[in-house]
Amino acid sequence: MTLTLPKWFDLHTHFRQGPAMASYVKAHLDMGCAGALAMPNTQPPVSRVTGTALADSWSIQSYSADLGAAGADVFEQLIVPLYLTRQTTAEMIHAGAATGLLRACKYYPPHGTTNSEHGMPMDDLIGGPVLSAMEENGTILCIHGEQHALSGPDYIDAQQNAETRFYTERMPRLLAAHPKLRIVCEHITTRTAAEFVTNAPAHVGATITPQHLLYTLGHLIQGLKYHLYCLPIVKFQEDRAALRKAVTTLGQTKFFAGTDSAPHTTKATACGCAAGCFTGGCAPQLYAMAFEEAGTDLSSAEGQSLFAHFLSLNGPSFYGFPASTQHFQMEKSPSQTTLLETPAGPITPLPLGMGLELTWRILG
Ligand code: DOR
Ligand code: ZN
Repeated sequence: MTLTLPKWFDLHTHFRQGPAMASYVKAHLDMGCAGALAMPNTQPPVSRVTGTALADSWSIQSYSADLGAAGADVFEQLIVPLYLTRQTTAEMIHAGAATGLLRACKYYPPHGTTNSEHGMPMDDLIGGPVLSAMEENGTILCIHGEQHALSGPDYIDAQQNAETRFYTERMPRLLAAHPKLRIVCEHITTRTAAEFVTNAPAHVGATITPQHLLYTLGHLIQGLKYHLYCLPIVKFQEDRAALRKAVTTLGQTKFFAGTDSAPHTTKATACGCAAGCFTGGCAPQLYAMAFEEAGTDLSSAEGQSLFAHFLSLNGPSFYGFPASTQHFQMEKSPSQTTLLETPAGPITPLPLGMGLELTWRILG
């Protein structure tokens, strides 16, 4: 079986900074990717719109230029969201939107995930001038939807977790205060979040990663597969089932690909583990496997249409740019995953070590 699909867009990925950027960009190009939204939690963060790179910050303009030089100039679309920090002003949003450089902003829960220490709490943003300026300009808000600063027991247990708390306590307030704000709920992982997005207005969408469609907490804990450790953490079977249902519902327009592929050369240290799964090179294959596990027959026209909408069509339409007119092909046959060697060191991609080989290969 061979699928011919429009080239797809990864609307949430991490290309980092420095000499390894080119390896990460190449891994995306090699998997039929026509464009990307490259996250601003670099070191230093992307917290200005224009100007040269400084010791404490990149601008969207300077970081995009570096990405271009690392190979991303061939992408049809390259979106770099502005990292919302205490220094972000409404004037920056208005001016940035006017130049066309600012298309999205990113909310990080302070200290909630990798390089998120510059974030400001959602409570301080709701009702404020920055989100109002975004609402006025149609700038998309990308949200890492987890409540920050929770105690261990409140962070996750069988009944609730940082994400469900965020979607029940913060998101309704955000939508009420900013009814026109265009929002992407990033890398959602729970039934609560999937249902929230489904029931929200049409200008609220979501990205879902391959790992959250394929794996549960049990996969992570059995053998402590720390290359499956990302944030939000993989959840439970009922959550995975809700995510699968969201992406395989006929006619759905809100859910689309965003891998959160996040390279870490050092994952585990003596007393902690960096959050982030790397799926560069194999994301469409993993997504296809997840659709099949969800019961989609990818040999049927209906199955292929469902898959194409999630992977290649819904994201561009939500972000307001054209889908790619180029195509790539995937064949149902086993392929190998190998370590990615980069100038920063080797990166372990999923599904290496997970007892599950890729059953699809990219033909190009
Ligand atoms: O797992 C994650 N890794 N989640 C994030 O929010 C950030 C990302 C990274 O930058 O490594
Ligand atoms: Zn991310």
